[in-house]
Amino acid sequence: MDLAQLTRDLESLAEETAAALAAAANVAAVEALEVDVLGKKGRLTGVLRGIGALPPEDRPKVGAIANRVRNDIESQIAERRTGLGSAELDARLRTETIDVTMPGRPIRRGSLHPSLESMAEIARIFGQFGFVTYESPEVETDENNFQLLNIPTDHPARDLWDTLYVDIPGHLLRTHTSPGQIHLMRSVKPPIRALLPGRCFRYEAIDASHGSEFFQVEGLMVDEGTTLGDLRGLLEAFAHAMFGAGKRTRFRPGYYPFTEPSVAFDVECLVCGGPGCPACGRSGWMTILGAGMVHPVVLRNCGLDPERYQGFAFGMGPERIAMLRHRITDLRLFLENDLRFLGQFR
Ligand code: DAH
Repeated sequence: MDLAQLTRDLESLAEETAAALAAAANVAAVEALEVDVLGKKGRLTGVLRGIGALPPEDRPKVGAIANRVRNDIESQIAERRTGLGSAELDARLRTETIDVTMPGRPIRRGSLHPSLESMAEIARIFGQFGFVTYESPEVETDENNFQLLNIPTDHPARDLWDTLYVDIPGHLLRTHTSPGQIHLMRSVKPPIRALLPGRCFRYEAIDASHGSEFFQVEGLMVDEGTTLGDLRGLLEAFAHAMFGAGKRTRFRPGYYPFTEPSVAFDVECLVCGGPGCPACGRSGWMTILGAGMVHPVVLRNCGLDPERYQGFAFGMGPERIAMLRHRITDLRLFLENDLRFLGQFR
């Protein structure tokens, strides 16, 4: 190996590369050539391996030629790549077209289930009065669901709740959200202003107005000096926000073991406001919740002194409220997950 031979090898590599570049049909071919000639294991490196065999004074000369050849090849490659690239782009632009006037594909939008939507609205309204939302378990103890709420074992008041039991002794599927009151009063110090929304379960024959699975929203306020008047005012404000300002409301006496006194809370019928109506029977009133002053026994069960603290509680059915707001007549629709029904609440 001598200087002249190496120089010839470099020159012929340059010529061959130039010819191959001119023949390259596309960018991919240029890139393959680049690897082949200039790559780590490429032909240029192969030729330069011969440098070691030259006398030391010749080596810089070959180095200078090799650099020139490399620079030449690099700039030719760059030029060819750009040229071919824009030709390819032009070809694509000519053949591929995007019709920007075509209508887009519609994005299917989901919606909240009407039960959840009503619960969100209930939480929003009570939130304005400082009520905070909590969760409590769906599988409850008999103690929390009944006994601590002043409903002793074997008491006839249990007949108000047809219960589904689970195969853990002493446990059941909660029949109402009221046991959440027990959890709360045992873990949070008054003042308490809480909402407890959640799913409830009852052993019911299913028909247009009864379900075995439904939601309730429990409300609880406990503080010093809380009165029935506070409950009345709060519920009236709620009814006005939910059903329309100026709607008349009323308290009727009711019975629940965990409140004393107990009331039912009615709102003037939304559909007719008078006798003969399909929504309210013929009374002109719709009952939307049960409520009352928390029974002293319940307060004491939770370690609160009824001489110091008073509270009120209420329990409402968001499905019932959704039925009234949207004029839905059959409770079964809430559980069937029929998109023709659910899609109407956007
Ligand atoms: N838990 C009752 C039910 O399931 C509803 C209820 C009534 C809740 C009065 C209350 C209340 O907190 O004070 O029928």
